[in-house]
Amino acid sequence: MKLASVPITLTQCAKTFRGTRVLEPLDLQIGAGETLVLLGPSGCGKTTTLRMIAGLETPDAGGRIAFGDEDVTALPIEKRQVGMVFQSYALFPNLTVRGNIGYGLKIKRVPAETARQRVDELLAMMRLTAHADKPIDQLSGGQRQRVALARALAVQPRVLLLDEPLTALDARLRDTLRSEMNTLLRELGITTVYVTHDQAEAMELGDRIVVMSAGRIEQIGSPREIYYRPANRTVAQFVGTINRLAGEQRDGMLTTAGGAVPLPSNRARASAAQEFFFRPEDAYLADPASAQLRGSIESTAFLGERTRLTIGGAAPDPLLVDVAGRVELARGTPVGISIERDALIALS
Ligand SMILES: Nc1ncnc2c1ncn2[C@@H]1O[C@H](COP(=O)(O)OP(=O)(O)O)[C@@H](O)[C@H]1O
Ligand SMILES: [Mg+2]
Repeated sequence: MKLASVPITLTQCAKTFRGTRVLEPLDLQIGAGETLVLLGPSGCGKTTTLRMIAGLETPDAGGRIAFGDEDVTALPIEKRQVGMVFQSYALFPNLTVRGNIGYGLKIKRVPAETARQRVDELLAMMRLTAHADKPIDQLSGGQRQRVALARALAVQPRVLLLDEPLTALDARLRDTLRSEMNTLLRELGITTVYVTHDQAEAMELGDRIVVMSAGRIEQIGSPREIYYRPANRTVAQFVGTINRLAGEQRDGMLTTAGGAVPLPSNRARASAAQEFFFRPEDAYLADPASAQLRGSIESTAFLGERTRLTIGGAAPDPLLVDVAGRVELARGTPVGISIERDALIALS
């Protein structure tokens, strides 16, 4: 199935509900065919942003939304050619799978033969052919999710909008569907805005991620940029786990409780900060005699493919260090830690 896709531009889109500003004016550009993920904690304004793009909410005066060259700010949802999938799916319980997928085509009075062909194609694409004539309540959660997606795609939208489509599913199924979703979005090549509070989903699906908090954009970037070069603490703490290393900067070293760590070679980034951050997987255990920092094991968490160590005494805060392999260390064991070169991040 080949879909037309269109770039989207939001210019100074703010939103106020009954006197309360829930979204600060935001600017956003989404490329044709791009998957943009809105990531942030509950209540930060993701759904509101998505609903403005859909045409279900109007931005405050002054805000503008364009699909390609077309200003759609005043265009109602039914004229925007968007497909939407909600967390709740909102399927019609009294219709069959086929009835649900074809619903929008019926409303649009698409000729019956064309509609049947398109529904058949979507049934095959979503591996639902064998379930075509079943009522919705006989389907599993994952199948319902695929029906909702097929229904959104049936009308050949130029934009696909997904609001936490996997959140209602259990963890195992969510993992499977996430990678299916990834394959599907690449195949379709449709401009997609995907809302989630789940960073793993954001990382896997997003060409770019918009990290939001409290009605504001904190950072826009590729998954790698967001993870390795977080713009500030809010982003660093929301995406992945990060350690804080506070101390005193002197002669290219940061001296802290358990030793000293060489600072990043990029001096401009290091500036005069007295505090740096690093990811648990960017540190490793080393011989205490030659390690950068010394501390002792406070606790260990076995996570299967890796073990997360909590190490006290090395820095003002306990440090988390991830190690691979069959490591077993008792509480109180003295350890040395070194940090990968240039893994330290300075954050405002
Ligand atoms: N229709 C509404 N009326 C009043 N407040 C709303 C409405 N919709 C959303 N809000 C508020 O706007 C804020 C952002 O909500 P929302 O966009 O749903 O966040 P998210 O999807 O990131 O969880 C929340 O504080 C929410 O309570
Ligand atoms: Mg929401």
